[in-house]
Amino acid sequence: MRFQSILLLLVVLLASATMNQALPRWTPVKDITNAHYLKMVHFAVNDYDNKTGQTLEFEKLINVEGQSYNDGTNFRLTLAAKNRLLSHKYEAVVWEPGFGGAWVVTSFQRA
Ligand SMILES: *[C@@H]1O[C@H](CO)[C@@H](O)[C@H](O)[C@H]1NC(C)=O
Repeated sequence: MRFQSILLLLVVLLASATMNQALPRWTPVKDITNAHYLKMVHFAVNDYDNKTGQTLEFEKLINVEGQSYNDGTNFRLTLAAKNRLLSHKYEAVVWEPGFGGAWVVTSFQRA
């Protein structure tokens, strides 16, 4: 094989290895009544309201799972909130940087 072909093969192999790299799995957070998660879920609802102009009313936190991600932790929060008169379940993902920076809401959707 010519050198270029070998190089190309290596690049392709490396790229596919990177793409197949699975993220760490989500693990349940035990103490979801901890004030930290309550603050976090309020932050997520507030952020959603700010971005969409809606006025979701937080009702309760149902479940929290964590996943190490990008030098920090992703938290997947399952919550109930009222949109006008109807209560719905939502799922928010909030990234918490490991170095103590500001939370980032990376997704917020109906569950
Ligand atoms: C939402 O907007 C209010 C008013 O501008 C601001 O004080 C608050 O920090 C915002 N919340 C989030 C989570 O960005």
